Amino acid sequence: MRIHVKNSYSVVNPKKAIDSFGTLTTPHMFTRVFGEDTWEDGWIDQRHSIELDPSAFVLHYAGNVFEGMKAIRTVDGNVNIIRPHEHAMRFNRSCDRMVAPEMPEPEFIEAIDALVHIDNGFVPDSNEGAYCYIRPNIIATTPALGLNPPAEFLFYIILSPSKPFFGANPAPQSLLAVDQARAHPGGTGQAKTGGNYAGSLLFKKRARDHGHIEALYIDQNQVTETGAANFYMIKDGVFITPPLNGFEGKSGVILQGITRKSILEILPDLNIPVSERAITLDELLTGITTGNVTEMGIMGTAAVIQPIKTIAYDRGTYTVASQQLGTITSAVRNHLLNIYRGIEEDKHNWLHPVTAASLSMVYQER
Ligand SMILES: Cc1ncc(COP(=O)(O)O)c(C=O)c1O
Repeated sequence: MRIHVKNSYSVVNPKKAIDSFGTLTTPHMFTRVFGEDTWEDGWIDQRHSIELDPSAFVLHYAGNVFEGMKAIRTVDGNVNIIRPHEHAMRFNRSCDRMVAPEMPEPEFIEAIDALVHIDNGFVPDSNEGAYCYIRPNIIATTPALGLNPPAEFLFYIILSPSKPFFGANPAPQSLLAVDQARAHPGGTGQAKTGGNYAGSLLFKKRARDHGHIEALYIDQNQVTETGAANFYMIKDGVFITPPLNGFEGKSGVILQGITRKSILEILPDLNIPVSERAITLDELLTGITTGNVTEMGIMGTAAVIQPIKTIAYDRGTYTVASQQLGTITSAVRNHLLNIYRGIEEDKHNWLHPVTAASLSMVYQER
């Protein structure tokens, strides 16, 4: 892919303090238009507003697909993207579901590399867990109110230097278990598309209004996940997380989390037994009451791994005995962050270095 760069400038030590997730931005963005069945060249320009016709498909029918991944600076200063191939594959699976054009995986990754390379100065030091969040997004721009597969799309990438969602040393939090579906079997739950998230906000708000960080979706007594992170519990020393193929033959309910996948890959390295199997709400609440469930948590790019101490459900609260991070949760968390930061060996090949060498950028004067 040819990438044109215009109006670019470099900032070596941005001075703004990073104290949250997703609020700071970097100076540049990547854009690429799809129309007449082809992808045009890519552009890197200063971050700017997007002009859309008021009838653009995305504004009415939520035609979009997005991804969320990280660039992290290792302790010796190099910048790596975490598992971009996995994100590219998930992006394209989501695009298929939402009738958006796929982007060839090497081009998706090259676009990210190019933008992160140009805004490299905004990838923070990774002490305290800071990183640069990468948000690719594709929106259907076709101006027509008829509900038909759109033909025109805009793909763009923006970056946001961030801190982990729940802080560098996350205190255990509580979830509100709700008998609601974030996604429906056979629906769009395995696609990262905006409507899934907009639809979940009512329950997130309800949870927040009662002092919980998120809703935990219970579908016919089965524990699924939260609005933007996968769930696990430690029961009798085993790390247990619901399977992605749903339950009773139903698929598409739980998002195929890449942090979840990474954690399942490192658990054997840490000699922690693991099981991907269905968890009923009864099993979870009983296990907390009897003390067999010793730790719980949620996993995702923004949260990394966040311990949960309490599940609130139907006027009851169920709290695990340990109010701390938990031995297994903290071992997994440290191991993951140490691999990201280049302290532990990257033996599963998750880190993708950002180097100028592979980039086909054409610089243009103003
Ligand atoms: C619904 C949902 N579940 C789980 C996750 C965790 O996925 P990942 O680890 O790839 O960020 C996310 C975030 O992307 C999500 O939106």
